[in-house]
Amino acid sequence: MKGIVFTEFLEMVEEKFGMEVVNDLLANPALKSGGVYSSVGTYDHMEIVMLVVALGKRTGIELPALLRAFGQYLFGTFKRAYPHMFEHSTDAFGFLEGVDQEVHVEVLKLYPDAELPSFETKRLSSNVLQMDYRSERSMGDLAFGLIEACGAHYGEGFDIVATPQSDDGKHVQFVVTRQGSNASHG
Ligand code: HEM
Repeated sequence: MKGIVFTEFLEMVEEKFGMEVVNDLLANPALKSGGVYSSVGTYDHMEIVMLVVALGKRTGIELPALLRAFGQYLFGTFKRAYPHMFEHSTDAFGFLEGVDQEVHVEVLKLYPDAELPSFETKRLSSNVLQMDYRSERSMGDLAFGLIEACGAHYGEGFDIVATPQSDDGKHVQFVVTRQGSNASHG
């Protein structure tokens, strides 16, 4: 997993819970990297899992909620770090439809060793987008937070329903509805 994910995660932890919690998480001897991350490095995916689990234990917050919050935070990071990737889409559904074949394709050019999920999208109606997440890394909750933040970025409130399609978290289906679009007058 790319270092930017680690450095941003630790920044979020520092902002929300303080430096002491960051230091506690990094003191874990099981971290192969020794708890030292550079944004351009690449680290074992298990390390981010260990850090998130440790943060859950330390704060008492459920893991899905932590990953979702981190997804929201990370969307802000991506906006700042890669503004050009947001130039092509004028609405959130358009952006989400381009994550698999445009955004993450660009990411792979920048970081050939990135480990990315796949997304398959389908418009169920003009205000409803179905999005299938598939990944060996089972980070559907992170995707949830990213999708939520994407709606907010484009000024569109979303209702998001996530339905696991497998027990291991490797396939999650999202149905994203633009809020207000169920009103009787359409
Ligand atoms: C709403 C839009 C997006 C969604 C739903 C999404 C989803 C995800 C998810 C769930 C992961 C974790 C890896 C996995 O599950 O296999 C991931 C990784 C990543 N994504 Fe995206 N993403 C989005 C937009 C972006 C954007 C805009 C960028 C940057 C311009 C980006 C760059 C990355 C990078 C660098 C990684 C880490 C890859 C690695 O660690 O090797 N994503 N994405």
